[in-house]
Amino acid sequence: MVKKNLAAISAVALTALTLTACGSSSEAGGGNETGGKGAGSDGKITMGFAQVGAESGWRTANSTNIQESAADAGIELKFSDAQQKQENQIKAIRSYIQQKVDVIAFSPVVETGWDGVLQEAKRAGIPVILTDRAVDSEDTSLYKTFLGSDFVEEGKKAGQWLVDNAADADVDGDGDINVVELQGTTGAAPAIDRKEGFEEVISSNPEIAISQSQTGDFTRDGGKQVMEAFLQSEDGIDVVFAHNDDMGLGAIEAIEAAGLEPGKDVKIITIDAVKDGMTALSEGKINFIVECSPLLGPQLMDLAKKVLDGEEVPARVVTEETTFTQEQAAEVLPTRAY
Ligand code: AHR
Repeated sequence: MVKKNLAAISAVALTALTLTACGSSSEAGGGNETGGKGAGSDGKITMGFAQVGAESGWRTANSTNIQESAADAGIELKFSDAQQKQENQIKAIRSYIQQKVDVIAFSPVVETGWDGVLQEAKRAGIPVILTDRAVDSEDTSLYKTFLGSDFVEEGKKAGQWLVDNAADADVDGDGDINVVELQGTTGAAPAIDRKEGFEEVISSNPEIAISQSQTGDFTRDGGKQVMEAFLQSEDGIDVVFAHNDDMGLGAIEAIEAAGLEPGKDVKIITIDAVKDGMTALSEGKINFIVECSPLLGPQLMDLAKKVLDGEEVPARVVTEETTFTQEQAAEVLPTRAY
């Protein structure tokens, strides 16, 4: 896949559709040539940002960070919430093209199906920056750069913890580690890549196997409902691998309702490290969290300015991230920013 090739190009580690204008409501500057020719005629940069939705604590922190970073950078932000629907995101991007914003940034809800609207942006001379999630397109000229996490790596880190803690994770002591997986939104880059990374690493231990895997759509409710169904359909679940904290938190509710103790009777691994997840980790209800940073705003604004100034930017900018054990979560929780 193209996005996988992109990761290899240059892993530069830098540290109902509603359209809302943040900052002044002045008309955006004129369209730019492809490649970026600077801000609008008033010298001010206007960015159209098409957000996925508000499905998780991560997403809320990401939206706030982008809005605050735009204000700090003096960039006028037009912000839309697609409510996790690709058609809403496409409408938002078309609306930004019509409004002649200087630059468009978006976090694609799913990987495929973007070429048409991105070609429209290119024809209008408006540069596009992918934020958080990649698109799966053959034509890499449709966007200037992709800023975000390495989701495959996140899945690998989650799998590695399980491999390293396999003895503890065999909760019922039957010699097999029975994992259930709560997947993110079907077709979304983090769901596809985290699954791939996790499966690759756990394949090194034949005792570890995924017995059931379903989407919880990255939401707490989704995680709870899918986990309830998993618990009803089989006994002996040792481990939950949730593609984000929110689904893991939903799973905790389902596990407790079934009279089991999360973190002990069922081990839980999640990704994100937002405050609610870190709190559950420090309380022993989650066993391990792989960080996925939502604080992409400052780098995004910096990249947008560079693109509009005609400067070269790396094709791929990978976010720096860590992992947390229960002890580490308790330590950092008081100062956690999100
Ligand atoms: O794309 C990032 C993922 O999307 C986060 O892990 C998840 O919480 C969010 O909804």
